[in-house]
Amino acid sequence: MKQILVTGAVGQIGAELTTALRQRYGCEKVVATDIRMPVDKDLRDGGPFEFLDVLDPNHITRVMQIYQIGTIYHLAAVLSAIGESRPNVAWTINVNGLYNILEAARQYQCSLFFPSSIGAFGKLTPKDNTPQDTIQRPDTIYGVTKVAGELICDYYYKRFKVDTRGVRFPGLISCVAEPGGGTTDYAVEIFYEAIKHKKYTCYLKADTYLDMMYMPDALRAMVNLMEADGTRLLHRNAFNVTAMHFTPQQLAVEIRKHIPDFKISYEVDPVRQEIADSWPNYMDDSAARAEWGWKPEYDLEMMTSDMLGKIRQKIAVDD
Ligand code: SER
Repeated sequence: MKQILVTGAVGQIGAELTTALRQRYGCEKVVATDIRMPVDKDLRDGGPFEFLDVLDPNHITRVMQIYQIGTIYHLAAVLSAIGESRPNVAWTINVNGLYNILEAARQYQCSLFFPSSIGAFGKLTPKDNTPQDTIQRPDTIYGVTKVAGELICDYYYKRFKVDTRGVRFPGLISCVAEPGGGTTDYAVEIFYEAIKHKKYTCYLKADTYLDMMYMPDALRAMVNLMEADGTRLLHRNAFNVTAMHFTPQQLAVEIRKHIPDFKISYEVDPVRQEIADSWPNYMDDSAARAEWGWKPEYDLEMMTSDMLGKIRQKIAVDD
């Protein structure tokens, strides 16, 4: 088996995916890369780590020549809220970065995983049970780059037979690395604040529905899709995948089952509220279920209890 390259390995998804891939395929098989050095010792020293800026094709070529890469998980990206404050940076990293990686995948014959997002939908998209194939007119720069990414990945498969695959992730909830700059980040922050201060001020309205997924399910989705029999894939890129959907109020009710005096209040950030309002309430993920057997394990109840347990342990160790 050839090696696996992970870009954005220090980010929210990358940090946990790198560890999961090392456990599954062996430490030397997984080359973690980022423009930041990992603070976490296990991530830094648990296998090969290289400095790689996806905007510099020379960096990518260098890594490709040192290692025998067969699969790339391209996770280096700018999220939705940061994107609105720095649209030029979001476009450059999300589009040019992906293009450089696609070119490397073509030249070195690698499979490529690219994560799209609920952000690839917009106000004209049906909000409930959002279909796999539907209207996509996002009005955030993040969404524009994700639609462009879905299309260019499809194009590289059709035109050059690069084995591109991908999903549209909902908000991802995890406790290893912080998300940073997304619209769905509240669903992570709320847990830390609930444990530390028993209160949280949410930047979205109480009744804002969004699709969400716990990280262990997201890791399985990526690995299962990349290991799936390619002949069964009709869509290849941008599969809708989801696990649960809830509002901030509903999440607070669930947390209160564990921390009865937890209080939530609301100070709405108009930028992130508008973004959230343009995204689905919940997606239809039947294509992913039919074509490669997608099935989530964690619902709201299981995720909440696991997150609270893990964060409590983490805080106890840090103290
Ligand atoms: N979690 C991402 C964000 O909020 C959506 O893909 O930007």
